[in-house]
Amino acid sequence: MKSFQFLSVQLLVNVVLVASTPLLDRSSLVDKVFSTKFSSIAGAVFVQTNGLNGNYILSANIESSGTLSLSRAVYTGGSGSHGIDTPTFGGDPLFSQGSLAISSARNILAVVNAGSDTVSAFRINPFDPSDITPLGKPVATTGQFPTSLAFSGDGSQLCVLTSGKSNGINCYTVYEWGLVPQANSWRSIGLNITTPPSGPTNTIGHIKFTDDGHHLIAAVKAAPAGYLAIWDVAWDGTLSKGFTKVYPAAGGAVPFAVNGIPGKSSVIVADPSIGADVIDLSNIQTASNNSLNSNLIVPGQGAICWISYSKQIGNFYLVDANKAVVTEVHVDDHLRPSIVQQYSLGTKSALDADVATIRGQDFLYVLDSSTPGIKSLTLRGASKATLTQSVNFGAPAQNVGLTVDPFYITGLVTYVRNS
Ligand SMILES: *[C@@H]1O[C@H](CO)[C@@H](O)[C@H](O)[C@H]1NC(C)=O
Ligand SMILES: *[C@@H]1O[C@H](CO)[C@@H](O)[C@H](O)[C@H]1NC(C)=O
Repeated sequence: MKSFQFLSVQLLVNVVLVASTPLLDRSSLVDKVFSTKFSSIAGAVFVQTNGLNGNYILSANIESSGTLSLSRAVYTGGSGSHGIDTPTFGGDPLFSQGSLAISSARNILAVVNAGSDTVSAFRINPFDPSDITPLGKPVATTGQFPTSLAFSGDGSQLCVLTSGKSNGINCYTVYEWGLVPQANSWRSIGLNITTPPSGPTNTIGHIKFTDDGHHLIAAVKAAPAGYLAIWDVAWDGTLSKGFTKVYPAAGGAVPFAVNGIPGKSSVIVADPSIGADVIDLSNIQTASNNSLNSNLIVPGQGAICWISYSKQIGNFYLVDANKAVVTEVHVDDHLRPSIVQQYSLGTKSALDADVATIRGQDFLYVLDSSTPGIKSLTLRGASKATLTQSVNFGAPAQNVGLTVDPFYITGLVTYVRNS
């Protein structure tokens, strides 16, 4: 039944996109997709509906111009969930960044099913990246309420973060045919949380490998003083038994999401209590007190929670959920952060964001959780981002019987073709 639904939804979502065309049979549809789009498709954007009655990945093609076109809806084999907001905010159901993750090295997409306590993996067709195929069956997470995923650099290892009654991390070896749990890889974080959790504070919402691959970081929004939990990663992917707690400089209290600062053994952390924290991890044992640590206070911010980095521009882009504003931030050679520019997204709320480089041009794609849809910004230079497209997937999905609830939708990742 589920696979029937998946096939018909996939078919019909495509039909909606070629609205003037009458109903097509599957083979002619595939032909049409390939003949009209194959050469101009540069990549894909993926989000998850996180639906209670079935989680779907929605994919959009990224054309070589950076323009998006909605492409497919694919059932994950699991269901979504929603945390309990205190106070009621609405979007951000998992209080997380990274509920979907991509390994470009392996052409694999992974997604959490927060209501099923599982992770699903898919193979990405590198020639038509919005076309994804399940890689085995969903696998269990050990903990409850999975919120975030991280691939190692070579894509051979995938780790999942959970933020329910049983909370911590667990890792898998990534094979061509699916995910296999690594023996003894469960590491408890041990917060006192319910399933589903009450948030956004006292939850755990992001997991990330350091750029050198030697450490795995979880951003822990413990109240009243959040921290980064940092494990050592051995050459074979084995995690240290315990983790080191690293606190941001005084002022920062709610580490939400983490991004490496290229070439600096340091991270910048989206922190909705102030804006951002910069933390020098060159010596992890003393990192809480390292002299280069600092905060960035973003005046008037509502809840800066998500972060992405543009290689072409060399700046970070932080998304404020409540204000639906993107703040562009530069971190200088001495690890001093500063605000470069701010951009209004022209919607009510925004969540995850990811930068894609298409033919040397960077684009920032942001999940618009109120429409719902995706906002595209073209990054033309430092302080020169422009809002270039708004995609709405609520109505096209509704037309084919798939309800996309703005209260549940979450996660956004991009994939770019190699050629
Ligand atoms: C965990 O949290 C609940 C609800 O806030 C509280 O009643 C309980 O005492 C806490 N348990 C521990 C071990 O701290
Ligand atoms: C950091 O400094 C504080 C206050 O001086 C001290 O209590 C704490 O032990 C130090 N932490 C580390 C990891 O050195």
